Amino acid sequence: MVRVSRPPGAARCRLLLPVLVLLLCGHIAAVAGHKSGSALTVVNTDGGVGGDEEEEGTVGDEEEEETVGADEDLDVFQPTEQWQTLKPGQALPAGSHVRLNLQTGQREVKLGEEQLKYRTPEHREKEEEEESRPSFSPDELKRAMKRMKEDLDPDLNPDLNPADPDPNPDHQDSAASRFRPLEELKQDMAELDLLVETDVQIMGRLLQQLNGSAATTEQRLSLLLELEYLVHQVDNAQTLCSMGGLDLILGGLNSSDFRLQESSAFVLGSALSSNPVVQVKAVESGALQTLLTTLVTAQPLHVKKKVLFALAALLRQFPYAQQHFVSHGGLQVLAELFQQDGGGILRTRIVTMLYDLITEKELMFQAGLDPVTDPAHEERRRQYSRVSLQGELGEKGWCSLVPQLLQSSEHDHREKALRALIAMAPACSDQYRLQPWLLDSLLALRLQYQDLVHSEMILGEENSYFSEIVELIDTLHVKLR
Ligand SMILES: *[C@@H]1O[C@H](CO)[C@@H](O)[C@H](O)[C@H]1NC(C)=O
Ligand SMILES: *[C@@H]1O[C@H](CO)[C@@H](O)[C@H](O)[C@H]1NC(C)=O
Repeated sequence: MVRVSRPPGAARCRLLLPVLVLLLCGHIAAVAGHKSGSALTVVNTDGGVGGDEEEEGTVGDEEEEETVGADEDLDVFQPTEQWQTLKPGQALPAGSHVRLNLQTGQREVKLGEEQLKYRTPEHREKEEEEESRPSFSPDELKRAMKRMKEDLDPDLNPDLNPADPDPNPDHQDSAASRFRPLEELKQDMAELDLLVETDVQIMGRLLQQLNGSAATTEQRLSLLLELEYLVHQVDNAQTLCSMGGLDLILGGLNSSDFRLQESSAFVLGSALSSNPVVQVKAVESGALQTLLTTLVTAQPLHVKKKVLFALAALLRQFPYAQQHFVSHGGLQVLAELFQQDGGGILRTRIVTMLYDLITEKELMFQAGLDPVTDPAHEERRRQYSRVSLQGELGEKGWCSLVPQLLQSSEHDHREKALRALIAMAPACSDQYRLQPWLLDSLLALRLQYQDLVHSEMILGEENSYFSEIVELIDTLHVKLR
């Protein structure tokens, strides 16, 4: 948590309009002053800031919030380094970054760069000096934002001329003279290069910074995090590709710094998720090979987890990539990973991924029983038919690996294992029978889950998760006979 930076009693700015992308509210002059100050301390944005700031600012903050709460009944949002959704009616501390999430239609807020970087005791003193300066009322700000938006809109104002001779009628209000004129506000914003940016412009800027040699690792990590947020939108992820960003991200996967590897895998996985265009571009750029190599070479388990996430997103609904995955030894790589992971998290992810791949292919052929109207369907079936997943699973040891997951103590892990074992049965049933302990542990599990179902029935619950597991055990049991 980071302290609220506005002085006691001052009106806080409340953004009531859907404001596009980066808009800075309130105290712009103060921030500009800080920016040019000579005694600035640039605070490392990685983690430590919040804690320090909190310690230094806690007492004052609490008083401040109480004052405000009593005064105006304002719910003050506390931005963090992550984007968070802003609820209607919540007020914002000065300098917060605000943007509109076009997918959800909700406004999101995080700490502005200025808030993160330039917060030292000297600045707090300056902020206190600012107390005497009149501030914006929510309504004034709302009008100002609206007018700025109109001025910045090329459709409404092709030459983007900031001069606006039309006097704001509200200035005639007795209170209005307390507020800084709109022109001054706009000028401040222009000085801060905080004109409204589109997602495309933001991505261009992020990629350029990522591509340069000047950025530190910490900066790269935060650039990647911003990209990760943006590429959840289908269009943005495709823009990332057309701007040459994929190569940069794949380069990051190759990095010697595991944090960069992890964040790059995160961006890649998010860009690939449910995005066929990006899936194709990624395979063309050699992503499959890079992901498999990284899966083998990356050291910390949590990095492998993110790489696996990206790999699963690449393969999902993409038989061409699946075929190459199988033929390039992907299943061996996963088998090694499965054996390394004692904890079970990665094992469960891997088994779930295999299950998804098997059932995806099965569904494709089941759907084929209906009259086909989609001409691409035949091609898809043809591609899926070339993915020899079942056979490879049988040959590469998976028939004895997946049963190991049943030994987990987590219900969820066991459930995933059971589903995968059932799906793999066509290739594996002979090998299952060669592992007598598998039948024994199935019987033991069945007793355990029947007990759980029984105690739930006493409590009046039916059709529980546990009875679902009993059904899975029975289904698998039949296949072992
Ligand atoms: C990165 O820089 C290189 C060389 O300056 C350039 O060729 C390449 O297009 C840049 N990539 C991106 C994504 O900006
Ligand atoms: C990753 O590094 C290896 C060797 O260090 C190199 O051969 C490969 O081309 C690199 N891949 C990418 C995507 O940069």
